[in-house]
Amino acid sequence: NNDVGILAMEIYFPPTCVQQEALEVHDGASKGKYTIGLGQDCMAFCTDVEDVISMSLTAVSSLLEKYQIDPKQIGRLEVGSETVIDKSKSIKTFLMQIFEEHGNTDIEGVDSTNACYGGTAALFNVVNWVESSSWDGRYGLVVCTDSAVYAEGPARPTGGAAAIAMLIGPNAPIAFESKFRGSHMSHAYDFYKPNLASEYPVVDGKLSQTCYLMALDSCYKRFCAKFEKFQGNPFSLSDADYVVFHSPYNKLVQKSFARLYFMDFLRNASSVDEAAKEKLAPYSSLSGDESYASRDLEKTSQQVAKQLYDAKVQPTTFVPKQVGNMYTASLYAAFASLIHNKHSELDGKRVVMFSYGSGLTSTMFSFRLRECQNPFSLSNIATVMDISGKLKSRHEKNSSIICN
Ligand code: ACO
Repeated sequence: NNDVGILAMEIYFPPTCVQQEALEVHDGASKGKYTIGLGQDCMAFCTDVEDVISMSLTAVSSLLEKYQIDPKQIGRLEVGSETVIDKSKSIKTFLMQIFEEHGNTDIEGVDSTNACYGGTAALFNVVNWVESSSWDGRYGLVVCTDSAVYAEGPARPTGGAAAIAMLIGPNAPIAFESKFRGSHMSHAYDFYKPNLASEYPVVDGKLSQTCYLMALDSCYKRFCAKFEKFQGNPFSLSDADYVVFHSPYNKLVQKSFARLYFMDFLRNASSVDEAAKEKLAPYSSLSGDESYASRDLEKTSQQVAKQLYDAKVQPTTFVPKQVGNMYTASLYAAFASLIHNKHSELDGKRVVMFSYGSGLTSTMFSFRLRECQNPFSLSNIATVMDISGKLKSRHEKNSSIICN
């Protein structure tokens, strides 16, 4: 099969939200802490009339309807989520209601879980199925659905909620470059949910930040090595038109891109200009641990990478800043922001994706985008998702509603 990847997308997020500025006032945080310090604008949340099941039912039925896909045409459905609704029954089985009605119960796949990475695991499973000898010619469907809720304290403004549905098949406008994948998997307690009766995670914010950056380094090295092996020339950020990150909060995305730029500097890659080399030189001999701890390096690399960040990352940050952390849906909501902002200029572009799930699992992979016929054109995907319309029709709530 050629160009297996994402044919169509739909996103749903709750219509209820709270402005981060209002949350700062409510929490007694200093002005700018959530908006500038974390880089977030607004946070969506589920009220008691919706949850990860209802959000994903909406995303899937809306995708099938708007792209006019017959539910009988779906042969595999996989869900990524870390929001536990039932310890045995998968979210996928709830979604079967949509297909049973149309007489289709012949659909493989169940749920994948590991923090924010489950959506990527589900996506790889479905793409691998379409590329395999067990593929029966029908479409695959991937659903990422989560509600991120934190206990009172510094992590609470990093919540959010959304569901994303993605239709998978050959000849896709968003095609996998299947050979270029670098993973890093390890045992860590940076964010986990040991209390099965609570929806709150136990999170060590600082540790999760370091784990994320270490995983990023590791995946980038492996991604670059795979690229060089199959492509014959070294990879640098100049070879990526856009870089999309899992986004627990925007500040971490800013730090992550700066970290990749520093990695390119250490690898003597072509993306780093002379002025930047001079500014980064004092940090070239730091050990790995020292480099994660250095505030000066963090600030300097963010500063020298700023122009590239604005071009390659900023267009991907819109939905995560407006909706908050959507766990498994976060990376794909960031990617949806790129389609929303740039759909008419993406033909031929390469997009590098970084997926991270605490605990920890992570992969860097890439897409090649191309213009396709309707309904699977990038501009039609932007039209169907209607991100501006959905954001406009939200109701802002008083912050006290989520704080007790
Ligand atoms: N104006 C501007 N910036 C400010 C202000 C202000 N008034 N006050 C603070 N800041 C800045 C700080 O300088 C800091 O920025 P820096 O990181 O660039 O130095 C930033 O705001 C955060 O402030 P801190 O005091 O360092 O951190 P805080 O105690 O608020 O906690 C944290 C932030 C760690 C991100 C917390 O919100 C958290 O734990 N969130 C959950 C993270 C998480 O879920 N991790 C798992 C990731 S994987 C996944 O998605 C499951």
